[in-house]
Amino acid sequence: MRIAVIPGDGIGKEVVPAALPALTALCETFGLPLSYDVLDWGADTWLATGVGLPDGAVERLPRTYDAVLLGALGDPRIPDMAHGREILLGLRRGLDLYVNHRPVVLDSGVIDIYRENTQGLYAGVGGSVTRSGSVTVAIDESVHTRAAVEDFVRYCLRRLRDDGRRKVTLVHKSNAVPNTGRLWQDVFRRELTAFPELTGSEEYVDAFCYHLVRDPSPYEGVLASSLFGDIISDIGAALMGGLGLAAGASVCPETHFALFEPVHGSAPDIAGKGIANPYATLMCLALMLDHFGHGAPADLLRTCVREAARGATATPDIGGHGTTDLFMDTVLTLLDHHRPARRASPP
Ligand code: NAD
Ligand code: IPM
Ligand code: MN
Repeated sequence: MRIAVIPGDGIGKEVVPAALPALTALCETFGLPLSYDVLDWGADTWLATGVGLPDGAVERLPRTYDAVLLGALGDPRIPDMAHGREILLGLRRGLDLYVNHRPVVLDSGVIDIYRENTQGLYAGVGGSVTRSGSVTVAIDESVHTRAAVEDFVRYCLRRLRDDGRRKVTLVHKSNAVPNTGRLWQDVFRRELTAFPELTGSEEYVDAFCYHLVRDPSPYEGVLASSLFGDIISDIGAALMGGLGLAAGASVCPETHFALFEPVHGSAPDIAGKGIANPYATLMCLALMLDHFGHGAPADLLRTCVREAARGATATPDIGGHGTTDLFMDTVLTLLDHHRPARRASPP
């Protein structure tokens, strides 16, 4: 595993360095080769040099690394988030990471939210007219190609089936936004016929949000376009107990390259206080280990992180009295404690 690490901005610069020792410890315990480089992409570099995503980065990254770990982007000094879009959306689109998987882990079960990551209102198509300093016309086009929706839906259905899930819900808004809604419904219905193990349903996004908050337990797999998926994954995070807990992976199924990124942002309201929750970033590391086929260390990490989160050293957002560092101390102690016994070396 060769990882490009982008801590980014705000609490990204706290939770990523805090969480990384857990990955190092696991790789040592399980004998997994690991190397990583820390890249300083983010607000400071943007403000100093005007560069967000360096030239050629999109071509270079997959040649040099197997995955990216990204903390968060967003800085009050750059209110329009121009650097964040260039870096984050630039990586997702440039590397064709068109599947964004955001598991919502609840007592009642896991809801696998799959969010299309490169199209719709995130296609980057649009423009505006400005007169005397004010915007008079603004257009953000929602662009979906059938081929890309098909690839996305087929991949998600296959993953859900392979993961033993039985139900899948398409979230759309075909009553108000009929063209893209119809395309998604048509693709979803056709692709589903190849997956008799899965029972499909469809819901308008507004009603879906309502039902999800009232009772999330019936949902298993959820498919959504980019903006709907963005919003429902924050609702999912709230159901889990907070944005500090929600992890995600943006994946290109064809190249297997992936970007692991918590659902949360740079949290300027708590940045610099040392209390940011590294849980979501740790769960991103677990998703990363899973992605590379290392299920045992991934499960061990999840077990230890969950156990630590129940203790007093958990961060305040989830009811503890701890700090980022105290929480990590507990996680690392638990990892050491639960370490599988070393196999005796052959005589
Ligand atoms: P946010 O997710 O940063 O914060 C929302 C709330 O959740 C805040 O109260 C924050 O304190 C809390 N929170 C988030 N993560 C936490 C953690 N790990 N531990 C404890 N509390 C946590 O959303 P926002 O305030 O709307 O956005 C801040 C900046 O981040 C903006 O610039 C936004 O564009 C950007 N953003 C970036 C990403 C990303 O890089 N992936 C995602 C979302 C938002
Ligand atoms: C997320 C974020 C990003 C998105 C923003 C910061 C561009 O909200 O990862 O959920 O909308 O995808
Ligand atoms: Mn979001």
